[in-house]
Amino acid sequence: MPNEDMKVISVMTRKGGAGKTTLTRALISAAMSRGKRCLVFDADPQQALARWATKLKIDDPLFKIEPLTKASELEEKAEEAYENDTADFVFVDTIGAAGAWADDLASESDAIVVPMMLSDDDLEITTDTFNWYVGLRERADDPEALPTFHVLLSNVPAKQSKSELLIEQKALSQFPVMDDYFVHRIQHKDASAEGFIHHIAENRRTGPGHLRVQAARFDEALEEASSILDALTGGS
Ligand SMILES: Nc1ncnc2c1ncn2[C@@H]1O[C@H](COP(=O)(O)OP(=O)(O)OP(=O)(O)O)[C@@H](O)[C@H]1O
Ligand SMILES: [Mg+2]
Repeated sequence: MPNEDMKVISVMTRKGGAGKTTLTRALISAAMSRGKRCLVFDADPQQALARWATKLKIDDPLFKIEPLTKASELEEKAEEAYENDTADFVFVDTIGAAGAWADDLASESDAIVVPMMLSDDDLEITTDTFNWYVGLRERADDPEALPTFHVLLSNVPAKQSKSELLIEQKALSQFPVMDDYFVHRIQHKDASAEGFIHHIAENRRTGPGHLRVQAARFDEALEEASSILDALTGGS
């Protein structure tokens, strides 16, 4: 039976270093912590996420990662997962650049999420990415079939500077910005060195007292990612 509930989420922006891989990893954690099967395509030629998984020997039946060398391959691969019901979520992490491939990726996605840090560069390039999406809708025969588009303010510091607040205001007035922000947290840095945040939370919980305290921090990071995931998929 096909998995009618399977969702394809592409993390995209034309800007390098905007937080795509970090966000993808957090969203995968959120899905896995609910017992959802994640099929992940690493479409970045640098293979940051795939290399991370290999380096840390991530071994979990809910997680599978493969390279995606051509965006056009996503159609067949996502279709296969859908038909055979082998995944609940498909995540695509991408390269931080523009390209015709983005159109192919969009045609197979249910949601596009664009992380944007609070910098002038990110604001400018997010504008380009948004304009690409607007153009895509104009060109499409059936715009309703296109994925939803969400800008996610990312790596947001607990206390924003004046210039960051200004960029935030501009973003809110220019794009569909998600209510949730992807906050700057050292737990995401730890994830890069140690593993998925829900795995780290579990490890800390069963460790000695001073580590158990840390588990709550990872749980908070996970809850935030979970809320973002819900917003991307319409709460399902
Ligand atoms: N929410 C966050 N909390 C803490 N650090 C973050 C967060 N989001 C991103 N970062 C940091 O920002 C840097 C860039 O993030 P990341 O590698 O995820 O970006 P990217 O868009 O995937 O980059 P590239 O274009 O090179 O693939 C990393 O050092 C990452 O740890
Ligand atoms: Mg990356």
